[in-house]
Amino acid sequence: MKKRIGALMAVMAMSAAFAAHAQQPVKKAAPNAAGATDATTADFEKFRDVLEEDNPAELFEARGEELWKAKRGPHNVSLAETCDLGLGVGKLKGAYVQLPRYFADADAVMDAERRIAYCMVKHQGFKAEDLAKKPFSSGNYTPELVSLTTYVAGHSRKMKFAVPQKHPKEKETYQIGKEIFAYRAGPWDFSCSTCHGQEGMRIRTQNLPNLSTSEGALRAVQGWPGYRMTGGVMHTLQWRLNDCFRQQRFPEPNYVSPSLTALLSYMTVNANGQMYKGPGIKR
Ligand code: HEC
Repeated sequence: MKKRIGALMAVMAMSAAFAAHAQQPVKKAAPNAAGATDATTADFEKFRDVLEEDNPAELFEARGEELWKAKRGPHNVSLAETCDLGLGVGKLKGAYVQLPRYFADADAVMDAERRIAYCMVKHQGFKAEDLAKKPFSSGNYTPELVSLTTYVAGHSRKMKFAVPQKHPKEKETYQIGKEIFAYRAGPWDFSCSTCHGQEGMRIRTQNLPNLSTSEGALRAVQGWPGYRMTGGVMHTLQWRLNDCFRQQRFPEPNYVSPSLTALLSYMTVNANGQMYKGPGIKR
């Protein structure tokens, strides 16, 4: 126990250091050959391993479970009895690692969070505008959709990514994601690929995964939804991608926008066949 507290305190100290980093404006990405921050990265990985034994994501899974099972909204029904995440109504096991996928009822390809939002609107009668009002965690506030997505993701722990690419719209969505990934624009003429399309890129202490490779793509989806030590909040990939659009100096996409589904499709299909460890910890 003592050991764990010691490790936790060290994590908190590192977390504060990361938070300080996070407040600095992002400078232009540049490859850093020196490798001076490898030790920091290794330390972080070590602390994450310790912390993941007592994963804070589980608190959000518990909250998500309550929300999933409760009869709620103007129609007073539960998601458990109405929401099909691709494997049948209420079926959770393995659903997350097989998303994004095509849904005939919506005639659209949807990622996990977008699908849950869709169910909340269609079955429970919530208003889409309300769900989009404050979609990201901050301070003590965690949006319901973040807890729900974490709960759903928890049911795919230790399962392999197997995102379908059969339906023409699934293939098309992947291609759109690939194009968005490579699309350069904005004041810096950046694309996702500028920061995430080659090996050995770094910003400050962070290694940037090359998301066009299978290992890099796994890093992009592994550990999400994640408890982020910077700020101590739970986030889903919706937030992560949104924040990267901001770093790229692009307009931020709408909440659960199809462009995010496309990017998620691109990254998750690239990670297919590899194991998802479940909701995790991110810095
Ligand atoms: C200006 C550089 C930059 C651009 C452009 C950029 N990102 Fe990022 N991205 C980052 C940084 C910095 C991180 C945080 C890395 C960390 O914390 O280890 C990150 C993290 C990520 C992660 C999470 C990786 C992980 O280890 O969990 C994903 C996924 C991601 N970006 C996707 C994208 C996508 C998709 C785009 C294009 C819309 C994009 N990024 C554009 C800098 C960038």
